[in-house]
Amino acid sequence: MDEEGAIGVFDSGVGGLTVLRQITLRVPGESTIYLGDTARVPYGTKSPQTVIRYARTCARLLTDRGIKMLVVACNTASAFAVETLRKELPLPVLDVIGPGARTAVRKTRTGRIGVIGTSGTVASRAYPDAIAQLAPDAQVFCKPCPLFVPLAEEGWTDGEVPRAVAHAYLDELLRENIDTLVLGCTHYPLLARVIAETAGNAIALVDSAEATAEAVEETLGRLGLGGNGLNSPQRHFLVSDAPESFSRVGARFFGSDLEHVEWVDC
Ligand code: DGL
Repeated sequence: MDEEGAIGVFDSGVGGLTVLRQITLRVPGESTIYLGDTARVPYGTKSPQTVIRYARTCARLLTDRGIKMLVVACNTASAFAVETLRKELPLPVLDVIGPGARTAVRKTRTGRIGVIGTSGTVASRAYPDAIAQLAPDAQVFCKPCPLFVPLAEEGWTDGEVPRAVAHAYLDELLRENIDTLVLGCTHYPLLARVIAETAGNAIALVDSAEATAEAVEETLGRLGLGGNGLNSPQRHFLVSDAPESFSRVGARFFGSDLEHVEWVDC
């Protein structure tokens, strides 16, 4: 495929397909190239230095293919590496944390915001820092929920087990009287129903994937980077390991079958 001028998106694996899905719904005419770093997943338990090194490798592979914009779909990579990538790359670099934080600040009425994510994302304090810049008086309560990642990948998104896990993670957060909860990990939209049931109707959920897709549309428009819509959009998927299992598991995250999954050496 002609990859020049596509939107490049990377994640540690399948999770970022939830972000890609929202991008393709928002700007359906844009070609996309997605890299899942399946050889190195998970990022959520790794040190900042290691995540920055992996993120640089992913970004280089995509920029070498002539993308016009880079979206860091992984929350952990956004938390640790986006500043480095912005300094080093000559193209717009979008992350998932800024848009998620903006939406949370827009939605909250009481200023009490919960954030759930990987251990790395929570340790980085990237969400509380981003929220504090927009709403200095907001109070942010964070909780790592690492077991949500394998549950989403196994397809255990409903029933007794995810409900029990959701209670174990969220009950403490709910005692803080939050009115807004940010799903600060690529995998959590798949568990949104169980999370919403556990949290109750009074709590607004923020899907960082949707917020990021809005930011992509806004940035394309503002910088005049939108495609001319003359060619039909292409979807290209790259992985650093195990294309078959990426296709199988990823179809659930993306919402439709993944065609042309290619292994890359990176
Ligand atoms: N994509 C990661 C994130 O959003 C979750 C999976 C991982 O730990 O690599 O933080």
